[in-house]
Amino acid sequence: MTQDELKHAVAVSAIDYVIGGEIIGVGTGSTANFFIDELGKIKHLIKGAVASSEATAARLKSHGIEVLDLNQVTSIPVYVDGADEITPQGAMIKGGGGALTREKIIASAAKRFICIADESKLVNTLGAYPLPVEVIPMAHAVVARKLATFGGQPKLRLKDGQPFVTDNGNFILDISGMKIVNPAEIEQTINNITGVVTVGLFAQQGASVCLLGTAKGTRMLDFTP
Ligand code: 5RP
Repeated sequence: MTQDELKHAVAVSAIDYVIGGEIIGVGTGSTANFFIDELGKIKHLIKGAVASSEATAARLKSHGIEVLDLNQVTSIPVYVDGADEITPQGAMIKGGGGALTREKIIASAAKRFICIADESKLVNTLGAYPLPVEVIPMAHAVVARKLATFGGQPKLRLKDGQPFVTDNGNFILDISGMKIVNPAEIEQTINNITGVVTVGLFAQQGASVCLLGTAKGTRMLDFTP
């Protein structure tokens, strides 16, 4: 099976976690896009969706799914999103698509985070994938110097030769070469740096469930305490 076929398979499996008559939180990226396309088929069963990016909002709307502002919503039972890396304990690196801050906000508001990923994303130690950090533009150089003291190499994310700009108007530093053995601690430390908006580590609050696409079918990892 191709990576896209595995992503599609887990997106189909995630539909079982959608709760009828409720609002669903929806993530960003290619796996989330497969999920949105499946959600379109059962849109009559849900009340609407909260989107983690402008791209996700546009795709949801293209399926006729109502997109609600997070401030209008009091309950999100389930949030479905992909990951760049996930450990067997449910800690994740996210933000490859640059939507980490809105993703973390919706994930924090949701009761359960259903992570959907192909099996290449499962790792024992986070950090082979560069760790994204959203920063206030005026602070990117000063934050990069502080991040470099943690042993990795932060690099400003570029798009077409210019700084990549998030939906929130900020920049992203991607830290490569960092072996993250204590993700919850690193998450706290990086989030405490002035000028950092959010680090793409989801460890203090990780996934509730991971649906992992494998050649043998969808494997379910349940992290519920
Ligand atoms: C976007 C994300 C994505 O969930 C992550 O990058 C995985 O993307 P994909 O499903 O395309 O592999 O965090 O900010």
